[in-house]
Amino acid sequence: MCGIVGYVGPRRATPILLEGLKRLEYRGYDSAGIAVGLAGSASEEGGAKGAPKASGNRLQVIKKIGKIAALRAVVPKDLPGDWGIGHTRWATHGGVTDANAHPHLDASGKIAVVHNGIIENYRPLREMLEKDGVRFASETDTEVIPNLIARYYEGDLEAAVKAALGHFEGTYGIAVIHADHPGLIVGARNGSPLVVGVGEGEMLLASDVTAMISHTRQVVYLNDGEVVVIEPSGYRTTGRDDRPVDKKVDQVTWELNNIEKGDYPCYMEKEIFEQPESIARALSGRIDRETASAKLGGLNLDKRRLREVGRVHVIAAGTSWHAGLVGAGLLESLARIPASAELASELRYRNPVVEKDSLWFAVSQSGETADTLYAMREIQRKGGTVLGVCNVVGSTIARESEGGVYVHSGPEIAVASTKAFTSQLAALYLFTLQQARMRDLSMEEGLRFIEALEAVPGAVKKVLGGRDELQRIAKKYSHATDFLFLGRGLMYPIALEGALKLKEISYIHAEGYASGEIKHGPIALVSPEVPSVFVVPDDGLREKTISNMREIKARGGPVIAIGVEGDGEVASIADDFFGVPKGDPRFYPFTMIVPLQLIAYFCALELGRDVDQPRNLAKSVTVE
Ligand code: AGP
Ligand code: GLU
Repeated sequence: MCGIVGYVGPRRATPILLEGLKRLEYRGYDSAGIAVGLAGSASEEGGAKGAPKASGNRLQVIKKIGKIAALRAVVPKDLPGDWGIGHTRWATHGGVTDANAHPHLDASGKIAVVHNGIIENYRPLREMLEKDGVRFASETDTEVIPNLIARYYEGDLEAAVKAALGHFEGTYGIAVIHADHPGLIVGARNGSPLVVGVGEGEMLLASDVTAMISHTRQVVYLNDGEVVVIEPSGYRTTGRDDRPVDKKVDQVTWELNNIEKGDYPCYMEKEIFEQPESIARALSGRIDRETASAKLGGLNLDKRRLREVGRVHVIAAGTSWHAGLVGAGLLESLARIPASAELASELRYRNPVVEKDSLWFAVSQSGETADTLYAMREIQRKGGTVLGVCNVVGSTIARESEGGVYVHSGPEIAVASTKAFTSQLAALYLFTLQQARMRDLSMEEGLRFIEALEAVPGAVKKVLGGRDELQRIAKKYSHATDFLFLGRGLMYPIALEGALKLKEISYIHAEGYASGEIKHGPIALVSPEVPSVFVVPDDGLREKTISNMREIKARGGPVIAIGVEGDGEVASIADDFFGVPKGDPRFYPFTMIVPLQLIAYFCALELGRDVDQPRNLAKSVTVE
């Protein structure tokens, strides 16, 4: 679920591992640890030449609950580490304790393992090992891994890992070291990402390129079922059956400063303020004025196949699902294609009908969300065509889908998704334009759509200029313990997203509702202590939403309205009003989400929350 980093090479491993873990912090974790190999001296080896031999080597494991800073504080300053592995844990099996933190050793203390994911059948494995006299030091599922490897170990670590893997059910990305194999790490993946970093005379292994980007930009993405051995001189990938697998080396294109905070106090603020550029990047090179359409080469579908699409389903989770809801709504109204967005975690288990002319989109910032990935595989198994809308290049969903669109928002570090959301919208808007232009949308209407789309980054920039006003509003209401977020049409998913942002980072309870639904229940919650945030654009539903605002006011509920600049009527009903620039109503999802992101952000700041790493959350949820 969380983070892995490993290093082999001529440099000291400990500082590289600690730096890598620091860069993985954003994923959310509760404890961290490292295991480093310390090569025995030549004299210990009886004067042996060359690489240190087995007997003098040992592994040192240091692990701690809490932040990387807590781990750093207990790592001896002079601990060099000749090779090693590190981990940030997001507990699934066993409490958050030092003993449960990774790395885990086998009973002999020679093999250390870090693991992301869940070994579902760990209980019978543990019982079997315990019967054989193995004593366990933690409550985790992970600890069976080093012990099972030890059982098969006869001098060849890779062979022992492969033999042990045959027993595991569930998901894993693992990195394994052995005291008797200096400068060697074995990695394996099944459902949890692992990437090799190819350096000059050194190699890295990590669950995420951010952990190694300051050392190398050449990376190799592992697939499920693959095993890699890294040594300073190179890497070797094979299947579990020992068949060599040829891998392509990819180049990471983004820069180190993309994952640094710069002058911002936290990543979330940086990412909110980056949106004018990130939306522009998502659109860049994809608009064709000549045909008044969109160019989306990565879809890998010919015109005929695109024209035959009879229904579109978006599968996603959380914020990506909200983007999918907006996209589906637009697609239906503009391209006249029936479309819906479904929660991946639900879809997978309800035996969905996969019609011949349906097209499926798996929308995922990380491209690693287990729910979305498994739902996508279920659809593919039934013969459906699934395209990815991902941010992370080379991610599992991006690679396993038939084609798709990268949203290019750059690395998103804050756990709460902001810029990825607006870039996902941009990608779905481009697809809608393409579909609409293949059907009934005229050239002239297509050009109008393009103009409005190209105006989005500028409009978002203007909204960001209102930060002080939004901070004032947030301060005024941050003491509330419950919020309602309400909107209609395309603004309903925006209300859902606004509520999600607030609860994620401020821990204030918030409910997103379709405005028209409030009288069917939620209105019972309205009181002077419960603010309602209305998203109310100047579209055909404005009057209806205004009526809902009045219903809340009549019952003494405070109303915050995010409307359109100059809308005096909405401003006069609301207790607090923020206006976004007037524009084509179809594009308000881009501008109206931004004030909600900022209100959530400033509420969290006011309450002193850890904005980038909210409690209990992980950036990418790679377990079910
Ligand atoms: C967003 O703020 C959340 N942290 C979460 O809901 C997220 O959107 C969801 O887990 C899906 O992630 P994905 O886009 O990486 O698939
Ligand atoms: N299941 C393992 C544990 O609970 C690994 C969790 C993770 O992915 O961080 O220790």
